[in-house]
Amino acid sequence: MRSLVAGNWKMNGFKAESLELASDLAGRARSGAVCDVLVCPPSTMLSDVGAVISGSGIMLGGQDCHALESGAHTGDVSPVMLADLGCSHAIVGHSERRANHGESDAVVTEKAAAAHKAGLTAIICLGENAAERVEGRAKEIVTLQLHGSLPEGASAANTVIAYEPVWAIGTGNTATPQDVTEIHDHLRGELIRAFGDDGNAVRLLYGGSVNAGNASELLAVDNVNGALVGGASLKPDDFWAIVESGRPD
Ligand code: 13P
Repeated sequence: MRSLVAGNWKMNGFKAESLELASDLAGRARSGAVCDVLVCPPSTMLSDVGAVISGSGIMLGGQDCHALESGAHTGDVSPVMLADLGCSHAIVGHSERRANHGESDAVVTEKAAAAHKAGLTAIICLGENAAERVEGRAKEIVTLQLHGSLPEGASAANTVIAYEPVWAIGTGNTATPQDVTEIHDHLRGELIRAFGDDGNAVRLLYGGSVNAGNASELLAVDNVNGALVGGASLKPDDFWAIVESGRPD
């Protein structure tokens, strides 16, 4: 399956540096990208970054979205607004949102459903924390999160799953290819259970301290269909090295 390498810029990037990063990446993409590339800048920069990458083949995504189309929700961004700005994707259920904003699986399901309704592909994030891994509960946790966060109508065409173990995010403690194989093979089985054959076509991304040095071994794992990259997505050389580790088909 063709890889998707997605950069989650998180709450980083003032105007000048965001535009510089976007135009650097767009220049590289115009000479051809090995796989699909997505950038998810902060919502303040979506419009400007969208203009810079337009025509380069790089796709634009939001880092979160509200479950409703519009209304009295101060500070929130709706999936329809994201689509209106040219986004094709929205990340939902990132562990930082689950932890900092108390987002439950039920909330993530509503957000994913709203993203679908707006015509966006939902990137649903899940992953166990350090204590759950030590207790040997990683598979149990991701299974609950997966089935708890998939809305009705989810399919390979509108949904991507990102396995991001919390203990690997921003820590430099990347999961080993063995850890990733075990969880991704398990998630693939669960996706087939949920969707039948279509479960084979759902992209499964790995995220958590992916960098230029470890990307090729992680992206070579059978059921890894791309990466969701935080810190390294802010450095064009590093991010592009990860893109170049992706598979064309
Ligand atoms: P890092 O790549 O900085 O560990 O972040 C991963 C992540 O949370 C991407 O969504």
